[in-house]
Amino acid sequence: MIEDFAGKTAVITGGASGIGLALVRRLGQEGANVVVADVEAGALERTATELDNAGVPNLAVLTDVTDQAQITALADAAEQRFGPVHLLHNNAGVTTVGLAEEQSDAQWDWVLQVNLLAVIAGCRTFLPRMKAHGEAAHILNTASMAGMAGGPFMAPYFTTKFAVVGLSEGLWHEAQMVQSNVGISVLCPAFVRTGIARSDRNQPDTMGGWVVPESQLGSKVGEHLTAGVDAGIEPSAVADAIVAGIREDKLWILTHPESADSIRSRSDAIVSTGKPAQVRNLGN
Ligand SMILES: NC(=O)c1ccc[n+]([C@@H]2O[C@H](COP(=O)([O-])OP(=O)(O)OC[C@H]3O[C@@H](n4cnc5c(N)ncnc54)[C@H](O)[C@@H]3O)[C@@H](O)[C@H]2O)c1
Repeated sequence: MIEDFAGKTAVITGGASGIGLALVRRLGQEGANVVVADVEAGALERTATELDNAGVPNLAVLTDVTDQAQITALADAAEQRFGPVHLLHNNAGVTTVGLAEEQSDAQWDWVLQVNLLAVIAGCRTFLPRMKAHGEAAHILNTASMAGMAGGPFMAPYFTTKFAVVGLSEGLWHEAQMVQSNVGISVLCPAFVRTGIARSDRNQPDTMGGWVVPESQLGSKVGEHLTAGVDAGIEPSAVADAIVAGIREDKLWILTHPESADSIRSRSDAIVSTGKPAQVRNLGN
């Protein structure tokens, strides 16, 4: 169990914006060595400069998490610079909006690759290395409240976030059974004020600018998502919850008080009527 982050090494994917950047800053204040991985070169460079100016030992690694070779290279680079990695935060994430059947193969593939397959690859790359070094370590996967209760118009996103919760729960149980040195957590925020509604900035060049579909429905949903994110909590509050949650060795890390009601009402509905109690607005 990690209680003190001073002198520990943390790798954070999607670390140059939003929730990842807030955790990077927070861990820097806690005295950690911070390895920032992101696909966005400019944001990554700005993050590294900020950390240098604050005197935080850091390494910025331009990484596309959808490529296993780049995840392996990230792990190698982190170990080469700082030695054993103690915290991995699989956090990079993107979304698309629109009806499930309206979204293209490329949209489905992109969201599944970034939000799910990359998280699996991160766990499978770092977990054996953490077990081999034997020091207290932790893997945190970013899911969402979209992994705890379903909703409309973001089917690829909901699919990946439920799967990341399932993956994390599976890893947690395995860790208990083998008395692993690696703790497991899954982060489930509701709306947070970040760049997630502008995910199209990260889509591969080959895909074109389609994050908000042309249909009227698609653009309405895009507006709703942007409004929700803009009204969300600050990423720094999420970073506080993460640090507290890891110290308490929590499996599920929730960040919004109202999340408790969503989870309870979903569970109640499953075992009582078998139908959602109410049609949910677009969640995140
Ligand atoms: N903002 C919210 O309301 C909210 C709520 C719940 C969960 N989340 C989750 O939080 C995580 C972080 O998102 P955020 O809200 O901070 O958004 P953000 O857009 O501010 O940050 C996402 C980061 O991921 C990076 N990224 C995207 N594709 C990548 C790739 N292929 N390889 C490497 N990096 C990549 C982006 O460049 C960006 O820096 C995501 O997994 C998201 O699903 C966000």
